[in-house]
Amino acid sequence: MASQNRPRTTRSLRLGLLIAAIIGLATGLLAWRQVQQEREIDLEDVGRRAHALAQQLSDRVLHALVLPDAQAREMLQPRLEGYQRLLGYAVFRADGRLLAAGRAVEEFADKLDGVAHAALQSAGEATQLTRVTGMRVYVFAQVLPTKGPVAGALVVVHDVSYLDDRALVRLAQYAFWVLIVSLLVVALVVGSTWFVYERPLTKLADWMRRLRVENVAESPPPGLPSGRLRSESDRLAASFRAARSTGRALSEAALHTEQEWTSERLRAHALVSLGDAHQIIVVSNREPYLHQWREGKPQVVVPAGGLVTALDPVLQACGGVWIAHGSGDADHDTADPEGRLTVPPGDASYTLKRVWLTREEEQGYYYGFSNEGLWPLCHLAHERPVFRAEDWEHYRHANRRFADAVLDEAGSGKAVVLVQDYQLALVPRLLKEARPDLRVGLFWHIPWPNPEAFRICPWGAEILDGMLGADLLGFHLQQYCNNFLDTVDRVLESRLDWDHFSVELRGSRTRVRPFPISVQPWSERHVPADEALGRQITELKTQHHLGDTFMAVGVDRIDYTKGLPERFRACARLLEKYPRYRGRFTFVELGAPSRTHIPRYREHLDRLEALADEINWKYQSGGWKPIHFLVAQHDAKTVHAFLRMAPMCIVSSLHDGMNLVAKEYVAAQSGGDGVLVLSEFAGAARELSDALIVNPYDIERFAEAIRYGLEMDAAERRARMQRLSRQVEEHNIYRWAANFLSALAAERATGAGAADSSKAAIS
Ligand code: G6P
Repeated sequence: MASQNRPRTTRSLRLGLLIAAIIGLATGLLAWRQVQQEREIDLEDVGRRAHALAQQLSDRVLHALVLPDAQAREMLQPRLEGYQRLLGYAVFRADGRLLAAGRAVEEFADKLDGVAHAALQSAGEATQLTRVTGMRVYVFAQVLPTKGPVAGALVVVHDVSYLDDRALVRLAQYAFWVLIVSLLVVALVVGSTWFVYERPLTKLADWMRRLRVENVAESPPPGLPSGRLRSESDRLAASFRAARSTGRALSEAALHTEQEWTSERLRAHALVSLGDAHQIIVVSNREPYLHQWREGKPQVVVPAGGLVTALDPVLQACGGVWIAHGSGDADHDTADPEGRLTVPPGDASYTLKRVWLTREEEQGYYYGFSNEGLWPLCHLAHERPVFRAEDWEHYRHANRRFADAVLDEAGSGKAVVLVQDYQLALVPRLLKEARPDLRVGLFWHIPWPNPEAFRICPWGAEILDGMLGADLLGFHLQQYCNNFLDTVDRVLESRLDWDHFSVELRGSRTRVRPFPISVQPWSERHVPADEALGRQITELKTQHHLGDTFMAVGVDRIDYTKGLPERFRACARLLEKYPRYRGRFTFVELGAPSRTHIPRYREHLDRLEALADEINWKYQSGGWKPIHFLVAQHDAKTVHAFLRMAPMCIVSSLHDGMNLVAKEYVAAQSGGDGVLVLSEFAGAARELSDALIVNPYDIERFAEAIRYGLEMDAAERRARMQRLSRQVEEHNIYRWAANFLSALAAERATGAGAADSSKAAIS
């Protein structure tokens, strides 16, 4: 609590100091002016006194001035001495020559010439404030007689050093009072902010926590700084209690029924699973919504990729914070100074907190270590991983940055942290080192290779150690869990429990389990339906000159793991072997450019475009061409329309953790009879066994599978798609998240080495 309050206290302290500084500066300036004015008044007093003294002596000096020098000096000398602050007098003849001076004045009589001459020249008075032998002196000169022809000048000299001392004392006194006033202002601002805002808001936060954790029946605390806040808090309490009691009922029922998982059900389940944890924090490299400048305006882009597709609905259902790299060129301009904004745009359900990385960090951590190293390491697509020491340093540093952002977000409260994917393998350990009480889950969205393949990573042990900071580690498939435990067995000194699939390292336990990820129903995604969808499909067909041919579709990030050349070649082989399909079969690939900063990805895109051209050149005729390679970041509405209009979808990954496009296609069919051609090397093939399963390297059989799909009779198509739909509907993303959260909650509840927690999961 204390550390959560610190930033607010510092803010009010800073405000108090600022106000005090402004007041201090203003009063300081006023005090300075005041001291100057008082000094001027004192000087005027001295001037008046000098004038009066000159008057008293003037008769005698006039008499002396008519005598020769020696007699005049004799007559004047006794009268020219001073006493106390009056240092003495000096007398000048009309031609400016010094006639006589008191003893104290004589020492610096040459310095008085100027002021005496000034008085003689103006035939009146002159004054001067000057410094002699370490003293501040005030010199007053007056001609004699004051009327008529000038006979000489009388000079009166005062020591006014005491005026400087007096000014200093006055300044010190003012400064003391300015300091006292400033301190009072600081105390007043900090105190009043505490009483008016911080105390009631801290009480409100405590009340909210009790409401969430203990479901208390008490009203919001009194003294809230605004009536609106109070009435909204009342309403919040009412709806929260209602949601919670429904949640309890639903959640208890959920464990025993096969009822469909929805976002509401997940929300209720999450409340129970989270228990006393304050919030869900998701942390990933890729952000769910990025902003890019288009025609001078920031535009929202939803990045392609399974991670965002899967996690965004979970956070929309449960609320919380998603921490990710802010990679869009308009990201800075669309977030607050702390990098935060609420998303989805226009339907705020959770907070996105952007982490800023320098270009060098992004290059080393994201493009380098993550995507030229770990990505090819984990995917068996025969692409050689590249490991560079400087990329590893950036990877470590960036992981630290993400972990710090999570710790910052969690404050001192309890939280469940869901770390995502291979870019952040070190984050779980970093979190646990700082906050052992956090509940940390890591989900690995890509395959895990066998130990021999993994061993080539020079920093394999550090990666494993980082991952094993998590309480729960999820993969898509049991096979990846097996590979992971095998790898740990070979690389680290740790205790493996093959019965419970857990690893014990340095006293903490990590449970390793499969959680096949899935998708959200399309009906929740604001995509056109019925007539509007029909119109959209007609428009797309016209726009891309698709005609009425039999259409197969593919939707992918353009990545060498997706088997796109194999897919194009299988289509070409179909046309070569079965000429009757020329002019009657079209393959549309919606390809989203990805990681194009990496040369291998750029080359891949170029080669694919060349291959599509080559095949089109060979077979196209009339207005028809076999391959439409549409390279762009296609939005969800466009993807949905293509998935709905295509009677076939082809997924041909060479290796893929899950592949959510396959599930998206099935989800889009909603009772339809589309055919799914699916690579056996995509994780999804384990669940979607009613697809036509292919080996994408075997072009001949791949082409045959497409032909079989084209010719499959309607009854078989429907039966297969019905079974696929049931599988995807039942095992949707909400069930995945509920399973993961339950397992994570059970893991923490049972503690290291305790009973089998799998019972808590929803199968
Ligand atoms: C895969 C990875 C994700 C990644 C996505 C898109 O699904 O598992 O972590 O976000 O690809 O790739 P990108 O590099 O654009 O984030």
